[in-house]
Amino acid sequence: MELPEAFKEKMKNLMGSAYESLLDSYDQPESKGIRTNTLKLKPAELVKILPFKTQDVKWCEAGFYIDHEVRPGKNPYYYAGLYYVQEPTAMATVEVLDPQPGEWVLDLCAAPGGKSTQIGAKLQGQGILVANELVNSRAGILSSNIERMGIANAIVTNEFPERLVDSFHESFDKIVVDAPCSGEGMFRKDPGALADWSLERVDRCVGKQEKILESAHRLLKPGGVLVYSTCTFSPEENEQMIESFIAKYPYTLADMKLSGITDHGRVEWTRQNEKAIEKSLRIMPMNVNGEGHFIAKLIKSETASELRTAKPGYPKSRLKKASQTELIDYQNFVKNNLEPGFYKKFENRLYLLGEHLYALPEGIDLEKIANLKLLRTGLHLGTFKKNRFEPSYALAMTLALAEAKNVCDLKDEAQAYQYLKGEALNMGTQKGWILVGFNGFPLGFGKASEGLIKNHYPKGLRIRKK
Ligand SMILES: C[S@@+](CC[C@H](N)C(=O)[O-])C[C@H]1O[C@@H](n2cnc3c(N)ncnc32)[C@H](O)[C@@H]1O
Repeated sequence: MELPEAFKEKMKNLMGSAYESLLDSYDQPESKGIRTNTLKLKPAELVKILPFKTQDVKWCEAGFYIDHEVRPGKNPYYYAGLYYVQEPTAMATVEVLDPQPGEWVLDLCAAPGGKSTQIGAKLQGQGILVANELVNSRAGILSSNIERMGIANAIVTNEFPERLVDSFHESFDKIVVDAPCSGEGMFRKDPGALADWSLERVDRCVGKQEKILESAHRLLKPGGVLVYSTCTFSPEENEQMIESFIAKYPYTLADMKLSGITDHGRVEWTRQNEKAIEKSLRIMPMNVNGEGHFIAKLIKSETASELRTAKPGYPKSRLKKASQTELIDYQNFVKNNLEPGFYKKFENRLYLLGEHLYALPEGIDLEKIANLKLLRTGLHLGTFKKNRFEPSYALAMTLALAEAKNVCDLKDEAQAYQYLKGEALNMGTQKGWILVGFNGFPLGFGKASEGLIKNHYPKGLRIRKK
C-alpha cells in the first residue's frame, strides 16, 4: 500500500523498532467482523445458522471474525437484523463502556451506528439511547440501522454536540465519543481515509475533538462514565487529547481489562508526561487481528456538578399525547394482529406526530427535546390512514414472530429475496396483516388478501432487481 510520506516519517520517529511491523500490517488484508444482535438471539445461536465460518473475537462475546471473501450483507439474516457488520477492534469501545439495562446512554458521534447498535443491544430495551450524528446524510443511515436492529428505545438526533447541552445537561450515565479522526487505522479498509490524510487534517481533527469532549463533559452526570475512542494512531488525537482533557476537567482515567488486548497508551507520547495515560488502550494492527483503536475510559468526579439555569421558552413539542379516541384504530390493529400482552408494553407512552404514532422511551421530557433536529423519537409504531392503522417496518423489526397472530415464516432464501425486492408472495391464506419472516425472524409486514401477500417492505430499503 502506498502510504503518505509525512505519515511514514512521523510513525518511524514515534515507533522506532516497531515501525517495520506497522508498515507490514498495511499490506495484510483488512479484518472483517460481525456482531450478534443480542436483542434477537444469542451469539452461539447465530453461529449455528450462518452459512459462513466464524471465529471468536476475544474481547467481545457477541463478535466474530469472518473470512475476507464473505459478503455478510448478502444474506436474509442481515436484513432480519440478526447481526451488524463491524470491524473487530471497533467492538472494544462499547465493551469498555459496559451499558446496563435502564441506563441513559449517549453516543455523540454515532453514524453509521456500530457503537449505537451495540449499546442498544446491551440496554435490552430498557433505559434510553440517544444516538447523535452531525452529518445529515449519515444520520439517516444511522437511523435506518437502528431500525433494522429492532431498537425501540432510541432517539436519533442530527445536531452539533453543543446543541444537545440545553436539552440533556448532566443527564447521561454513560457517554461514548467515538470521535471524527484522521483515520490512520482505516487505511486498509477505506481508500478515502488514505486519500484525505494530511498533517493538517490531524490538526483539524484535534480542534473538533476538543469541542466534542467539552460538550460530552456537560452532558454527563457527576460520577458518570465517558469513553473516548478513535481509529487513528496519532498521539495528538489520543494520548495528548486525553492528557489535556483531564488537566482541564474533573476526571480520572479508569483501568480497563479486555481479553486479548495488552497494548496501552504511551506516556512517552504525551506532552506533560501524564502517567495515568498508561490506563488507556492503544490497539495496534500489528499486535491484534484488527484495524486498530485507541480507547480511554474516564470517570467524572461525583462532585463535579455545574449549576445551569434552564433557558426559558423552549418551543412546544410537535408530538402530543394520544387520546383514547385517537387510538381506536391502533387498538383494533393490536387486538386483531398481535398477542394480547402487546398493548400494555407502550400503553402510557403513546404520542402522535401528525398521523404517525410513536412509543416514546420512558422518562423523556418532550419539551426539552423540541428544539432539536430529531430523526427518530423512540419507536415508530405506524401510521393512521382513513379508518385504519398501518403498522410500520420499525414495529415489525422489534417483534418476535410469536407476538404476531398471522405469520408467514419463509424457509427458502429465494422467497426471502422475493419479499426483500418488494414482490408479492403467492401464499396468503388468512386475510389481514402478516408478519413476514425468514427462519423465525421478522423481515417486515405484508398484507394478505385473495391468496396473495402484498408487500409492505419499505420502498427505500428494497433490494434492486437485477
Ligand atoms: C468515527 S465516526 C463514528 C463511527 C460510529 N461511532 C460507529 O461506530 O459506527 C465519527 C462520526 O463523527 C461525525 N462528526 C464529524 N464532525 C463532527 C463534529 N464536529 N461533532 C460531532 N460529530 C462529528 C462524523 O460525521 C462521523 O459520522
